[in-house]
Amino acid sequence: MSDLKINVINHPLIQHKLTLMRKETTGTKDFRELLEEISMLMAYEITRDFPLKEIEIKTPVTTCKSKVLTGKKVGVVPILRAGLGMLNGVVNMIPAARVGHVGMYRDPETLKPVEYYCKLPSDVSERTLIVVDPMLATGGSSAAALSLLKAKGAKSIILMCLVVAPEGVRVVNEEHPDVPIYTASVDECLNEHGYIVPGLGDAGDRIFGTL
Ligand code: URA
Repeated sequence: MSDLKINVINHPLIQHKLTLMRKETTGTKDFRELLEEISMLMAYEITRDFPLKEIEIKTPVTTCKSKVLTGKKVGVVPILRAGLGMLNGVVNMIPAARVGHVGMYRDPETLKPVEYYCKLPSDVSERTLIVVDPMLATGGSSAAALSLLKAKGAKSIILMCLVVAPEGVRVVNEEHPDVPIYTASVDECLNEHGYIVPGLGDAGDRIFGTL
């Protein structure tokens, strides 16, 4: 495990909410709300080092210097479909962010990820992209999505996942050493069906109620 390059966000509110999400008895409404809340808190943590500059402003009382974000603008890119569950939380924290979408599916014969949808902001190369995908399992589709974004010009990418398996982290670390990964938990392993253990089941089905 020590070979993994991964940032685990151990904030107590995130860990508590993740436990509620893992429970089999948690229904779609609560699952969706919890994911949005965790995504807000994770966005708060991953933007901790974003650069600031001072500007001069006028308050109702006086003029003063005050801080605003500077540096690259942000793009948020959910990987369809489950990534949509993390989108609103991030956008609530970074309302000026542009949003791109990437859809990947696994070809049943080659087992390779195939792009079926990609729509990105035109200035993708000038933005820091926060790619959101709740479950980093084998890492195949996430790594392919990151390659696709780079091929479209992305130069600065952060991958934000709710739960990861060590296997998936290794794949992304190897193929994209420049992409920092943030998560609320590094779980134990993948099972024979490709589910993260202990995990929380199929995130997309639980978000959208398609179980
Ligand atoms: N995708 C999910 O939604 N859950 C897993 O456990 C693995 C991949």
